[in-house]
Amino acid sequence: MHYLEPLFNPKSVAIVGASHHEGKIGHTVVKNIVESGYKGKIYPVNPKGGEILGLKVYKNILEIEEDIDVAIITVPANVAVNVIDDVAKKAKFIIVITSGFSEVGNIEGEKKLVETAKKHGSRILGPNVFGIYSAKPPINATFGPSKIEKGNIAVVSQSGALGIAMIGRASEENMGLSAMVSIGNKADLTEVEILSYLFQDEYTRVVFLYIEGLENGREFLDIIRKRPPNKSIIVLKAGRSKAGARAVASHTGSLAGSDAVFDAAFRQVGILRADSLEDGLNWVTTVALSPAPKGKNVVIITNGGGLGVIAADACEKYGLHLFDDMEVLKKTFQDVMPEFGSYKNPVDLTGQAGGKEYREALERAFKEDSIHAILALYCDRGDSIEELKEALIEVHKKYRNVKPALYTLFGGEGATSIIQALKREGIPAFSDVEDAVSSLYALYKVNERKDEGELEEIEMDEEKIKEVIENARKERRNKLLSHEAKEILKAVGIDVPEFYLAKSIDDAIEAANKIGYPVVMKVVSEDIIHKTDVGGVVLNIEDEKEVAEAFEAIMENCKRNVPHANIRGIEISKMLPKGIETIVGSTTDASFGKVVMFGLGGIYVEVMKDVTFRVAPVPKKEIRRMIREIESYPLLMGVRGEKRKDIDAIVDTIYRVGLLVDKFKEIVELDINPLIVYEKGAKVVDARMVIKVEK
Ligand code: COA
Repeated sequence: MHYLEPLFNPKSVAIVGASHHEGKIGHTVVKNIVESGYKGKIYPVNPKGGEILGLKVYKNILEIEEDIDVAIITVPANVAVNVIDDVAKKAKFIIVITSGFSEVGNIEGEKKLVETAKKHGSRILGPNVFGIYSAKPPINATFGPSKIEKGNIAVVSQSGALGIAMIGRASEENMGLSAMVSIGNKADLTEVEILSYLFQDEYTRVVFLYIEGLENGREFLDIIRKRPPNKSIIVLKAGRSKAGARAVASHTGSLAGSDAVFDAAFRQVGILRADSLEDGLNWVTTVALSPAPKGKNVVIITNGGGLGVIAADACEKYGLHLFDDMEVLKKTFQDVMPEFGSYKNPVDLTGQAGGKEYREALERAFKEDSIHAILALYCDRGDSIEELKEALIEVHKKYRNVKPALYTLFGGEGATSIIQALKREGIPAFSDVEDAVSSLYALYKVNERKDEGELEEIEMDEEKIKEVIENARKERRNKLLSHEAKEILKAVGIDVPEFYLAKSIDDAIEAANKIGYPVVMKVVSEDIIHKTDVGGVVLNIEDEKEVAEAFEAIMENCKRNVPHANIRGIEISKMLPKGIETIVGSTTDASFGKVVMFGLGGIYVEVMKDVTFRVAPVPKKEIRRMIREIESYPLLMGVRGEKRKDIDAIVDTIYRVGLLVDKFKEIVELDINPLIVYEKGAKVVDARMVIKVEK
């Protein structure tokens, strides 16, 4: 039995703050519990005693003879803090409806609730929640609408008000619920534990989760990865807008607005993210009402060419495959339509088609095994619709478990009345083609299982990495010098071309001779970030004489432009031939911890922000998907006669960066910028790293 079972299927509930006054939250909760047909014991608690809705009221929770599965607190915040000790003595789970805690800065009060509960081994849902509905007992322990239809959709909402509104909307849309949980301030129980329950709950088929943020992103991803195949989740995460400016030292850090990382993390584990409440509701309803499609072939059946074309366009946009086996299409549909109809997909039954033709065409589409999903469209002609309504409902009910079918009815009153009738019968019906197509896309998506691949071990010179980090820490430096960052990358097996740190002209000449010309020389100083701007970089050095001149020039420029800079020497490395400049980076995200980033360098990253993220470490299979996500990916595949670049080398670099930052948590930010990619190989030109230094 799941440890949250008593929360979702309580044998007894107490309402602390049960009110004698109709309309007050403490009264509505009792009323909703009673009216939901809850069969367990109900204990209203209020110091005034008496009766509420015919139930005996206990003056104190301690007077109740038995232990209680769920206590619901509906007294004001200051009272809640006073009664929590008694409540926690009695109840396994405490739902704190009361507002006025951390959301308004009352951190202390919230801490007291959680700590007291913990002392007695109780768990808290909330505070600042609207309660819980669970279809199993059933119980409606919310102060929202009293009528909730049973079904297989579980709604988990961080926002209470939205959750309550959704109860109303669900009933309007004929959406049956298996559970409705508001998680509020998440002081103790979070969405992760709630999901772990719902994913094993026999009543739940699909979870609709509304969140604004996640504290424990990794646990969240893990629970999603482990969900059973017959459970789906659709997430509406608010806050797509850009994160406010953050003080970050790296490029990667500045590009990793938290929403970009959310998006990437969701993609990584295959979570379908809805952009709007409307999409989210359409999608969950469709998923809840439809079997998983057994293949990719979609067929559109319509009575109007126009609507068919709009649907076909939308299918293309969402990547849905229109069935195109002409022989099968002909055999299946030709004799259901007049001569001027079209059996080509979209199948056009023509404007004169009514109930009879739709019944026949749908029946055939359901029966044909090589058709896997049906989009039936109807343009309302303003005439009798009863026959059509009946046909759609009857055929759909007969085959509803065979394959998904979604209906769009466009037009006036007739269309609306059919939509309502279909919805009442639990059939996915829409007034807009795009909604139907996007819902079918969602159905495909939630039934896909994501295989991220496996992590493989690599060799890493951990001693060397520790040594470099330690050296910087001794100097209380959180930014590594470029040659230090390169040392670390080398230690993890990334291709860093030979480099030396020269302290004198002689050193520099010796190094250049070893490396072979042409070489590049760059100043090394923690005080100089933009080396080129201060004249700290010389490219394309061809011989010893030029090495000596460059050394002097760099020293002079830097001393003149940044007089107080601590110059540690000059880095000499090979001047690399031209290739495609990319950027590989890592940063630390507040929700998900270490993430890696990839993009093409120059304008692609600076202007277009064409970058992609994953939560580290990332298996190579997933890194390949990640790389393909950037808009400028075709450039890596070779354009205008250029050859394909070495994608494997990029994959390998990102892979090693992922393992590095995962192992060495103290590396909080990292940029390889640029990583030059060739037809064969990818090489690090410059690198930056920021480490955590205890102050
Ligand atoms: N034990 C049990 N009951 C007690 C009590 C105690 N120690 N002390 C007082 N009560 C009783 C009160 O007498 C009252 O009952 P009555 O109406 O019969 O007199 C009842 O508890 C409620 O207390 P009251 O002081 O009237 O509070 P309220 O109803 O005005 O407000 C909340 C209580 C919880 C509703 C309010 O503080 C609140 O937080 N509202 C916002 C809720 C919300 O929006 N949550 C988030 C949703 S998303």
